Amino acid sequence: MAEEIENRKFEHIIICIEENIEANYKKTGFQDIEFIHRALPEIDFNEIDTSINIFNHQFNSPILINAMTGGHEVSKKINKNLAKLAKEFNISLALGSQRAAIKDPSLEYTYNIARETAPDAFIIGNLGAPQISDEYGMFEINRAIKMIQANAFTIHLNALQECLQSEGDPFYKGVINGLQKIKKDIKIPLIVKETGAGIAKEEIMLLKNLEIDAVDISGVGGTSWAAVEYYRSKDKVKTLPEITKTFWDWGIPTAVATIEASTIGINLISSGGVRNGLDIAKAIAIGADLVGISLPFLKPAYEDDYNKLKELMEKFIKELKIAMFLTKSKNLNDLKNSNLIISGTTKNWLETRGISTKNFSNRSEN
Ligand SMILES: Cc1cc2nc3c(=O)[nH]c(=O)nc-3n(C[C@H](O)[C@H](O)[C@H](O)COP(=O)(O)O)c2cc1C
Repeated sequence: MAEEIENRKFEHIIICIEENIEANYKKTGFQDIEFIHRALPEIDFNEIDTSINIFNHQFNSPILINAMTGGHEVSKKINKNLAKLAKEFNISLALGSQRAAIKDPSLEYTYNIARETAPDAFIIGNLGAPQISDEYGMFEINRAIKMIQANAFTIHLNALQECLQSEGDPFYKGVINGLQKIKKDIKIPLIVKETGAGIAKEEIMLLKNLEIDAVDISGVGGTSWAAVEYYRSKDKVKTLPEITKTFWDWGIPTAVATIEASTIGINLISSGGVRNGLDIAKAIAIGADLVGISLPFLKPAYEDDYNKLKELMEKFIKELKIAMFLTKSKNLNDLKNSNLIISGTTKNWLETRGISTKNFSNRSEN
């Protein structure tokens, strides 16, 4: 079993690096969001402050290196590079599912390398929802936390992927109960995240009622797990490749899910297809506290190209700052109150769901 998970993890990494596994016809929705340009910003570029305090921790920027890997030899190298990046930029780092090392403790080194590399970084642990419905309880969660001295812990939702992988566990009965039990005993912030299909406001409300500390809506527009499973199954299994194609773009676009969640009032992470600093700025402006990015970091981390990772991070931050400068936003709070125009499919989704987009266009009076 542990070996099977280990091989699957490796296949996922290679497919994500080599194939086009992003959403096809559906977009994140950030293309439907436009800032109002402010020609007289009356601030200096070097005064712009991208720092944020969340989970009682001060970060230099709102970027979260989002959950990807662990459980295979190559994950050690990837997690080491990502941890170095998190440390250098004082940003948060989420690790991939720790299930492989719960099953086989000899794989712990592929995760705890992150803590060794960045002793003071904010590192987030991870396990999947199907496991907490029956298999795992607080004992395993505590083991996962201890493994990396986690500062927060995530349970990921991947109902779509579980349906589309031949070895999947599409068993979600009891997950809510499992979350409730974990929340009762866990000593660090508990986050619930999706993996690329979005979370609707109905579920956000439910998670808020469970007193979950933050949600990562991880919507459609970036990495598609249906696409990944298409490449895994295409030459092996009979009907699965066709089914994965049918669901390639399934889910709620990232910008839509971010705005839906922001109406509920909960610590909010936006992710799924965030590919530049302008997307990051838009995600913050529509209500996110942190913005998660996965796929763009995978290849340079796998290739051990730390300079490339650093360049990428510097580019994201520079683009975020330019967007802040041009919207007269000295800090992230100003950015959250900047004026936006929301149009197209995103407006359509939101208004159909009873959320007015008008309020975004005249929020800032100065
Ligand atoms: C190679 C790879 C592995 C992933 N593994 C996990 C995982 O173990 N746990 C998890 O919560 N999300 C996992 N994800 C999902 C990401 O955290 C994120 O939600 C999703 O990829 C959308 O973001 P992106 O478009 O920036 O890649 C993985 C993503 C990638 C690319």
